[in-house]
Amino acid sequence: MNILGIETSCDETSAAVLQKGHVLSNIISSQFIHKTYGGVVPELASREHERLIVSVVDRAIIEANIQKTDLDIIAATSGPGLIGAVMVGLCFAQGLGYSLGLPFIPVNHIEAHIFSPFIQESGDRKALSEPFISLTVSGGHTMLSLVDPDLHYNVIGRTIDDAAGEAFDKTGKMLGLDYPAGPLIDKLAEEGDPEFHLFPRALTSHSRTSRSYRDNYDFSFSGLKTSVLNYIEQNDRAFIEKHLPDIAASIQAAIIDVLVEKTVAAAIKYKVMNISVAGGVSANSGLRKKMAFACKEQDILLTIPKAVYSTDNAAMIASLASLKLARGRAEQNSYDVAPFASFDYC
Ligand code: KG4
Ligand code: ZN
Repeated sequence: MNILGIETSCDETSAAVLQKGHVLSNIISSQFIHKTYGGVVPELASREHERLIVSVVDRAIIEANIQKTDLDIIAATSGPGLIGAVMVGLCFAQGLGYSLGLPFIPVNHIEAHIFSPFIQESGDRKALSEPFISLTVSGGHTMLSLVDPDLHYNVIGRTIDDAAGEAFDKTGKMLGLDYPAGPLIDKLAEEGDPEFHLFPRALTSHSRTSRSYRDNYDFSFSGLKTSVLNYIEQNDRAFIEKHLPDIAASIQAAIIDVLVEKTVAAAIKYKVMNISVAGGVSANSGLRKKMAFACKEQDILLTIPKAVYSTDNAAMIASLASLKLARGRAEQNSYDVAPFASFDYC
């Protein structure tokens, strides 16, 4: 069974082919056009997807060493995301599927991130057989969910303002870094002192406010943003430039401490000794290290996707379609599905 997956929800045009659930190809074309604007410009993203989609899909099929006519199923992101961007990939996938007479499976982008740690490569036997706590951290979403192997999940916490990736990108922008700043802060932080400045860690045991953090699995990063802005305004530019790695490391530590504390607390509370971390921010090396350390201390098994499957990619779309099919949970008559922009937390 060959599945073609297509992902265009934000600024990555991606197509992947999976055979019997294993990745044969995963082509990702990142749109650098947005750098000039310091963030993703929705209309430009749609136009770039339109320009790139045919060649990206062709490359995925060529790299998989199959023909278009060997495809059995088409899957694509139907949302959430930038509506115009989602529409390009979804309509393309539906058109291709219809013309080849194939079934079409719509995939929720956030759900695809949740299950991305279980993407299988050749020879892999990663079993999705135990319940797990999923920390899903991307540019648009930060949430904790309790997930069962039958693909059901309950959201137990979410950000009440900014996403963790947004906190990386926006504080990075204040420091003069390009978009997306997350990977740049990660790199700078390697050389910096995470204790150089104590930025706030809202709704955690480190928080100085009286708001209760126990049994509270929500996140808040807007105070961190304000705190970084105030810090930059209170110090001169030369000082900021000189200590850029230290400030980056301190910002990263503030974000990571919150993510790790809440995720491990949720695993203990729900007595689920498996944690997975997914989404763009799960590529962060500091988060990977600290989460691994905290999980080891509590005897919790940690699963994180390879960096290439952390950020947006079509392999996770095809992989969730494959898992849904295997569990008899793929939607029927899906050619009717329309793109959607926002996520309904269940
Ligand atoms: O999952 P993703 O590719 O797209 C969305 O669905 O949003 O996540 C993108 C986010 C951006 O905010 C980016 O800065 C962040 O993931 N990101 C990172 C790293 N790599 C990507 N944040 C911190 N450290 C990284 N290494
Ligand atoms: Zn994403």
